Amino acid sequence: MTRSPDGPAASYDDLYARWEVSNWSATAIDFSADAVHWADELDDRQRTGALWNYSMFLYGVQGVARALSPMIDAAPETGQALFLSTQIADEARNRVFLDRFLREVAGQGHDPKSTIQAVDRHLTWGFKQTFAELQRISDELRKKPRDRAVLAQTVALCHLIVEGVLAIPGEHFIQRYVLRRGILPGFSTGLGAIAKDEERHVAFGTRILRELVAASKDCRAAVVEIWDRVLPWMVGVFVPPDLDRTYVECFDFRLEEIYGFGLRSLETKMTEVGIDPGELFLLALDDRSLSYEERAARTLILVEAGIIGDDRREPVVTHEALEILFEGTTRALDVETARAVGGPIEWAFTDHEPWHVVVEDGHVEAKPGSAGAQALQLEISSGDWAKIAVRRADPRRALLTRRLRVHGHWQAKARLAKLFN
Ligand SMILES: [Fe+2]
Repeated sequence: MTRSPDGPAASYDDLYARWEVSNWSATAIDFSADAVHWADELDDRQRTGALWNYSMFLYGVQGVARALSPMIDAAPETGQALFLSTQIADEARNRVFLDRFLREVAGQGHDPKSTIQAVDRHLTWGFKQTFAELQRISDELRKKPRDRAVLAQTVALCHLIVEGVLAIPGEHFIQRYVLRRGILPGFSTGLGAIAKDEERHVAFGTRILRELVAASKDCRAAVVEIWDRVLPWMVGVFVPPDLDRTYVECFDFRLEEIYGFGLRSLETKMTEVGIDPGELFLLALDDRSLSYEERAARTLILVEAGIIGDDRREPVVTHEALEILFEGTTRALDVETARAVGGPIEWAFTDHEPWHVVVEDGHVEAKPGSAGAQALQLEISSGDWAKIAVRRADPRRALLTRRLRVHGHWQAKARLAKLFN
């Protein structure tokens, strides 16, 4: 298989050399036509959608730039530290570009400080959680520059997730539209240049992370741990305000495309780093025989039911959402333990028709309706169960607070904790 020079095969020296030849100027971009197009060619809905997306982009670039400086001290090799220094310069330029665009074209603020303040209201719950974690982990790296596991976690979040999974779909979705219509030429030029910068950054991150993960089991475990933690937040980054899909549909994009694109990026990067996507809890629940867009559509059903994507929302669980959750639950269940329970396990929902799981022909099956002679019965609301199923809530706490009640023989009850591990 041939790879591009920016692919995972590129050495740190190659990546540095590529930076030298691909310089561009954010201050030289002419936004005069863009300002006219912004006012005349886009409608209100599109201006709101673009502001929402590029406000997060501006904050994102700032968050990445902050996370990079402790990485320079922590980088084991000189070539890595040199590349990271070039990346700081790139992020500064990206910031100048986005700041100019938001002020000179979209009319937000009158200087860099007031511009970033003006766009603060567009940040989603998932975005805020993800970037708070990036700040926390890079602060930890600043304190412990020799800790390879913390370095691996910082790269795993900064380069692979924020840059590789979140930034690239974010860049694409409006870019495709403006290119088709031949509008916003300054914006398109800048975004094209940013996309090339990002490819280099992600190639660097993939390489260093693959090396760290291959060299140490601790680094590997630390990377899986941080990805497991941030995945529910990542799902929330592109959830539009009030779940209003017109934020993206006005640019001839569907949310399923954005989420499918992000999911594909995530699994590709994980595989390149040497970690199987099925090692992540949320991805293990997924039916990976489906296409990325089909999987994205199922994710969005859970988002719309308030189960994932914004932990401030209480779930309103639909039949469709329960079907997806139970399918995932059966995939995660340990067959031997389920068999040892000695009969069907029933979820007697307080606000929904019951569901049950049974072991049949060596695999676990979930079905709507009552099981009849169940060995275990879980009495809980569908919303509380949904939260437990996606690890938003702790089942032990639900038991203690009696939001979850378990009925059955003590031997069957004793297997419950093991069942969901
Ligand atoms: Fe970047």
